[in-house]
Amino acid sequence: MTFRSPFAIPRQLLVGTTSLGGRSAINSRLRCNQRGLATVVPPVTQDATGSKGPTAMVFMNMGGPSTTNEVEDFLSRLFSDGDLIPLGRLQSYIGPLLARRRTSKIQKQYADIGGGSPIRKWSEYQCAEMCKLLDKISPETAPHKPYVAFRYAAPLTETMYEQLFADGFGNGKGGRAVAFTQYPQYSCSTTGSSLNELWKWRNRLEGKRANGGSEPAGAIQWSVIDRWPSHSGLVEAFAQNIEAQLKTYPEEKRDQVVLLFSAHSLPMSVVNRGDPYPAEVAATVHAVMQRLKFKNPYRLCWQSQVGPSAWLGAQTSDTVQEYVKRGQTDLILVPIAFTSDHIETLYELDQEVIHEANNPGVKRAESLNGNPVFIQALADIARDHLQKGELCSRQMTLRCQGCTSERCLGQKKFFAGQEHASMVV
Ligand code: FES
Repeated sequence: MTFRSPFAIPRQLLVGTTSLGGRSAINSRLRCNQRGLATVVPPVTQDATGSKGPTAMVFMNMGGPSTTNEVEDFLSRLFSDGDLIPLGRLQSYIGPLLARRRTSKIQKQYADIGGGSPIRKWSEYQCAEMCKLLDKISPETAPHKPYVAFRYAAPLTETMYEQLFADGFGNGKGGRAVAFTQYPQYSCSTTGSSLNELWKWRNRLEGKRANGGSEPAGAIQWSVIDRWPSHSGLVEAFAQNIEAQLKTYPEEKRDQVVLLFSAHSLPMSVVNRGDPYPAEVAATVHAVMQRLKFKNPYRLCWQSQVGPSAWLGAQTSDTVQEYVKRGQTDLILVPIAFTSDHIETLYELDQEVIHEANNPGVKRAESLNGNPVFIQALADIARDHLQKGELCSRQMTLRCQGCTSERCLGQKKFFAGQEHASMVV
């Protein structure tokens, strides 16, 4: 079968066979701090409520299975997402079938990186730490309460929404929530998909659909941080991690190390539809290189291409192989489009690309994970958003040139708010 995924599906997700299990029940009210690898979310750090608080801060990301037992449900949701992998009218039937055939192999890969994805642990930690900082630098919107909403793994969007209700937001009580994408660069396949999901559950749980056709009073007031590809704090965190890895090379060779920035690829059909992701990833790379004073040669390459259709290249694995073959054996891989470790860094880059290069000069820069410079950047981005009072960026109101999705249109009109809905084209 040919996949025309609008966002890179990890190569390892698309090979292997086994059986499929059922999807998680929607109404499970998980707290963010209840499971396996989860870092305990600290209690709200400020007793006093600011004049505009409290504020719910919701980190959105794709998520990953925290244990190998969650792999099948994760894959099933992933293959059922038409924003990510458009499979047509039979998507809800084909998606779970594809997941069933791949679960066993992917479970083994998660076992090889420690038994599950660390993305939940890092997301909960980053969000909680950011909220502590926000309480200090934006006291008027305090207390800030941390939530995580994943697209394909627990905690899912609907679980997060139920938790908001339980904590006193919405359902007639009003309150403010910020959907903060953890994809620094916007793609309709990633942030767009998460926003479509949030919009869907908002409508089901407290929108017109839940209120007999009219907008209910006291619903949550949402705003969106939809992209931040060249924020100075993000750039600084990446640059410091690169500098730390450069220091592991002898001083006389340091400036000759090639920096290979690696991001998920996209099918060319999505690129040609007008998806903003490639340009925004390039913006991040350029800003990081500017901060590093362009001391090293560099390239941006793309990983996780699958299937026979055309994808944005050059591929990361081919790039490493080619440069090593030419004698350029000092290379640093820099994951530039994710904010924490995940299977594409820990397995695909570390255990496949670097292992296959079989050369001690081929290394990887640390992921952002618990980096305090990065967490301060998150807090600064959030504070600026809260102070500005805008519902989303102007850029989010412009749909892709080739977009024909009514869902994109409706979602964008909703998040742009009444005042700016007419700008959505
Ligand atoms: Fe990009 Fe719809 S696909 S806005």
